[in-house]
Amino acid sequence: MALSGARFRTLSWAAQFLAYKRPSWKCTSCKTLRPTSITLPRRFATAAPTKKPYYVTTPIFYVNAAPHVGHLYTMIIADILKRWRTLCGDTDAQLLTGTDEHGMKIQQAALAAGMDTQAFCDMNCKTFEALAKVANLDHNYFIRTTEPAHRESVQYFWEMLSHRGYIYTDKHEGWYSVSDETFYPQSQVHNSLDPTTGRKRMVSAETGKEVEWSSETNYHFRLSAFQDRLLELYKTGFITPSNYATDVVKSVASGLQDLSISRPAERLSWGIPVPGDETQTIYVWLDALVNYLTKAGYPFPPGQEGNLGWPADVHVVGKDIVRFHCVYWPAFLMALDLPVPRNVLVHGHWTINHEKMSKSTGNVVNPFFSLDRFGVDTMRFFLAYQGGLAGDADYDNAYIIRDYKKLLQSGIGNLVLRAIGSSKGKLPSYIASGHSGELPAANEHDSQFEQLLKETPVKVAERMDSLNSRAALQDIMALVEQGNKYIHVSEPWKNADKAPRILYNVAESLRIAGILLQPFMPTKSKELLDVLRVDNSRRTFSAAALGSDAEYGEGMKKTVLFPPLIVEQ
Ligand code: ME8
Ligand code: MG
Repeated sequence: MALSGARFRTLSWAAQFLAYKRPSWKCTSCKTLRPTSITLPRRFATAAPTKKPYYVTTPIFYVNAAPHVGHLYTMIIADILKRWRTLCGDTDAQLLTGTDEHGMKIQQAALAAGMDTQAFCDMNCKTFEALAKVANLDHNYFIRTTEPAHRESVQYFWEMLSHRGYIYTDKHEGWYSVSDETFYPQSQVHNSLDPTTGRKRMVSAETGKEVEWSSETNYHFRLSAFQDRLLELYKTGFITPSNYATDVVKSVASGLQDLSISRPAERLSWGIPVPGDETQTIYVWLDALVNYLTKAGYPFPPGQEGNLGWPADVHVVGKDIVRFHCVYWPAFLMALDLPVPRNVLVHGHWTINHEKMSKSTGNVVNPFFSLDRFGVDTMRFFLAYQGGLAGDADYDNAYIIRDYKKLLQSGIGNLVLRAIGSSKGKLPSYIASGHSGELPAANEHDSQFEQLLKETPVKVAERMDSLNSRAALQDIMALVEQGNKYIHVSEPWKNADKAPRILYNVAESLRIAGILLQPFMPTKSKELLDVLRVDNSRRTFSAAALGSDAEYGEGMKKTVLFPPLIVEQ
């Protein structure tokens, strides 16, 4: 079921609830107050969902500038996770992506562009939507934080936090980075010279982005109350890969300060007003994080908490936004007794000359150009194969060309041509022999390769379960590489009596690789499976096992799957 359809029903319920059951809002200047034990009426408490759709998300991207290859990468990793689940039979798996359209950063970018802010968002959001489409994302919904449904969801979320005593007003002083949309304490900023202008300025030690001093009264969230529960959460493997968890644990263990969660409306007008206090605008990160709930149907109709996927199975994020997803977000959810996401999958950054590719720095690669130049599946393959999860990865067109030639053309493409060419139309009979157990006896090379054929799908599934799509893809490509080596040393063209077993095994490697590659390269893997004449009904994960398809191969024709690239550098 698409999220959008169900949202419609949710909205009418939410509208009723907000109209009749709204807790009266009070400005609680209650710094000394402990989090209250106010509990919501039972019908609003979350029940543990029994069966819920698999739910994966990307971050929602700021519309201050056009997307680059880094955004494309995150989208693709999330899409691979979703498509993998679909391949495994989860036909209801959900993928959410979208745009983050509020906050100072967008307000300033629209001003600089001399545009009305909403018109600016409408224009730039289209580019992200177009990217998702061009990159062949199988997303179920594209959310925009300027949607009315999201506004309702955020305001309701705020009211619940307030109702439970987790919000208070206080004076706040600190350094704010518009680029990072976050406050930094004095200990995390330093003086720096702008290399281009020679101007002295204060910057964040973590991101190098300029900060400005701000002193204002605003609303705060009692983040400090969640230290112990967060530390417990990290023990469950909440953060993947684990190297990112180490830093988060260290920082949370060293102490948590309460979080400023609003800005005076006179400074920040582009955002969602604090319910009951139009002089304050909700902090863009609180607003943004709630998007994941909005599209899961929040506020949840009683008894339907997990129906649309909450809790999310995976939030895929870049390492730049770990704190927001791994500290603030679970704490907000805990405050409302909502289930926390099962996992945050963090990935490293794409760099250019070892510097982070970034919209605000401007050292970006236009993803539309790359997709057009190299092809959608080549880019999906390259990013998934080389992209950093635990670490960063450097981007260069030369690497894409290298991988295309070595892994796709000489790897998969070549194996297809050799398998079809060498079998001279006899593959269907070899496959039949494989099934009736009439193949010639195995030698050492055959046995080794057959072992790999059996192990690969299992290993790939394990990798995907642990969210390591890169290692999964490497395992699939190792099967292809071994397939080429196997056919090379086994020489079926010189060995007529051995040929049936060799070519059957090679065909199986291509069929299994083709099935497993579908989440990574949906179009090219379809072409491969079409060339092998694999029936559409036998392309699911359960068919990716040695010997599980007795009826493919009839009428195969030599086909060039990966033609020479037109532009080489
Ligand atoms: O942070 N390499 O939006 P954003 C890899 N709106 N991935 C990169 C990247 C790079 N060089 N640069 C960006 C925001 N990304 C918030 C998110 S979510 C509730 C709100 C990807 O437009 C990566 O996923 O700055 C990173 O976390 C995200 O884009 C940041 O996008
Ligand atoms: Mg950013």
